[in-house]
Amino acid sequence: MVVNLDDDFNFLIRKISKSSGIVLSGYRDSYLRRRIDLRMKAVGTNNYTAYMGLLEKDKNEMKEVINTLTVNVTEFMRDKTPFIFFREEILPDIMERKKQCKSNMVRFWSAACSYGEEPYSIGICSKEVLPDDWTVSIYATDIDEKCLEGASQGVYSKEQLKNMDPSIVRKYFEPVGEELKVRRIPKISIRFKKHDLTSEPPISKHFDVVFCRNVMIYFNENQKVKMLNDFYNSLSDNGYLIIGKSETLPVEIRELFAPVSVKEKVFKKI
Ligand SMILES: C[S@@+](CC[C@H](N)C(=O)[O-])C[C@H]1O[C@@H](n2cnc3c(N)ncnc32)[C@H](O)[C@@H]1O
Repeated sequence: MVVNLDDDFNFLIRKISKSSGIVLSGYRDSYLRRRIDLRMKAVGTNNYTAYMGLLEKDKNEMKEVINTLTVNVTEFMRDKTPFIFFREEILPDIMERKKQCKSNMVRFWSAACSYGEEPYSIGICSKEVLPDDWTVSIYATDIDEKCLEGASQGVYSKEQLKNMDPSIVRKYFEPVGEELKVRRIPKISIRFKKHDLTSEPPISKHFDVVFCRNVMIYFNENQKVKMLNDFYNSLSDNGYLIIGKSETLPVEIRELFAPVSVKEKVFKKI
């Protein structure tokens, strides 16, 4: 008999998705496999069916695997196209509007920033597009202090930077032993702060763009509505909201945001 490991794996993913309510279809197969293999190793099995049996019996292990699958995004530009859209469409539009009111300052919020890949990518895109005398202020928040500590150090392995253009890596990172550390970028400040999107008020106001990708999938409807209302109030007029590719806005708040790019999940405050 030939055992099809792909079927077992896909069945396992469907089961985890169903039990947790988390949409895992936006995640790369290789990423899911790597993370699940780590858990299977930790509990001493290399068989997907046996692991599924364990998940059925042990609620704690279900929690562990969900944490493993969702918490850490460890690659820069794992999903490149929202940043291309940000660089090529959003930043030029913001620049044009700011020039009309004689401002050269922009403000971004990277909500649920994990280990800092997103706020540093925002900083790098901004530096590449905006004139040198512009000031960029980035708030980067997450609920997890471990993530924030790692993020503020800004040290990454070469593997984590493999999706980035090598010339950009050379320009914005400096070697520290085997790893690479983000260089200080003039006129760009990134503030890391602990913040719970489901229970705390918005961190600040007058943002030009709020990035909130791949966290809403873990929230219930009330939490999503609370968070999106907060984003609405913390965005400046015509400010942009960017959510994750596999996420959607709840019906209740659709009148607050107009779609700008359905594909990139970019919206504008109405
Ligand atoms: C899958 S990561 C997404 C990281 C990043 N936004 C991205 O797409 O690359 C989810 C992040 O959400 C954070 N998170 C989970 N619940 C949160 C909450 N209630 N408030 C703020 N951050 C939260 C986790 O700590 C984790 O860093």
